Amino acid sequence: MIYNYPKIGEITAAVKEAGKLMNIDRVDIARKGNESNYVTSADINVQNFLSEKFLEMMPNSSILGEEAEQENILPGYIWIIDPIDGTSNFIRNVGFSAISVALYFDDVPLVGVIYNPTRDEMFWAQKDKGAYLNGERIHVSNRDYSHSHLCSAMSLYAKEHAKPCFNIIERIYMEADDLRRMGTASLELAYLAAGRFELYFEIRLFPWDVAAGLLLIKEAGGFVECLYHEKMPKDRPFPVYAANSKESLEKIKKIICEEIPELPY
Ligand code: IPD
Ligand code: CA
Ligand code: CA
Repeated sequence: MIYNYPKIGEITAAVKEAGKLMNIDRVDIARKGNESNYVTSADINVQNFLSEKFLEMMPNSSILGEEAEQENILPGYIWIIDPIDGTSNFIRNVGFSAISVALYFDDVPLVGVIYNPTRDEMFWAQKDKGAYLNGERIHVSNRDYSHSHLCSAMSLYAKEHAKPCFNIIERIYMEADDLRRMGTASLELAYLAAGRFELYFEIRLFPWDVAAGLLLIKEAGGFVECLYHEKMPKDRPFPVYAANSKESLEKIKKIICEEIPELPY
C-alpha cells in the first residue's frame, strides 16, 4: 500500500509552531479526573491549533487527541495527539514536557513527532525511514542490561495499580544500573530511542502518550510492546514496556508478566 501524507517538514513545522503556545506565564490551570491530573489552557490551545492544522493539511484524516472532542475512532488516516505530555512538569516549569503527534493508517504507524520546546529538541520518525533528533539520525544505545537506566512511573492517575509498579521497578532496579521517574512518557520513549536511556515500563498509558514513541523506538533499532496486546489499542489504556535490545526486553518482560499476570483493569 502506498501512503500519501504531508511532508515530515510540514508536520514538524506545525508542531514547532504549536510549541510557542506552551508558555507557562499565561495559563489557566484546572483539575480533571483524580487529584493529580491537571489540564491547562495551553493544553487546549495546542490541541485546537494542531487539530485544525492537520485536518487542513489532510481533510481525509481524523483526530484522536487527549484534549479533543472524543468521537468514534474512524478507519484510515488518524492523527494521535497529546498536546502537552507531562502537564505536571509544565505547570511546575521543570522544562521536561512535550507535544506528541503520530499519524497512523489504521494500525500502521507512519509518522511520530515528539517536541520539547524548552530544549528545542524535535524527535521524529517515519515508517522504514529511521528516527532523527533535530536532523541527526538517532539509534538506541548498546549498553547491556546491567548498565541500563530504567524510566518508569507508578500509575499516577489510578494509584490502585501502584503496587505491582513498585515491585517491578524494585526488581529491575536491583539488576540494572539506575532508575529515573521523569514525568513525561513520550519524551522518555524518545530518550530511549536516542540512546539516553535503555529500559521503560509503565502500567497504564493511553494511545496519545505512546503512539509517536513506539515508532521512534522501532525506527531507532529498539524494541517495544504493549503488554498482552498484539497492536496498540486506540480506545483504552494499556501497559507498555520497551528496551534497547531484544535480550533486555525479554528480561523485563519476564518480571512484568510475573508481577502482572493479567491485565489489572
Ligand atoms: C502523563 C505523563 C506521565 C505518565 C502518565 C501520563 P499527561 O501524561 O506522560 O509521565 O506517567 O501516565 O498520563 O497527563 O501529563 O499528558
Ligand atoms: Ca500524556
Ligand atoms: Ca496530556
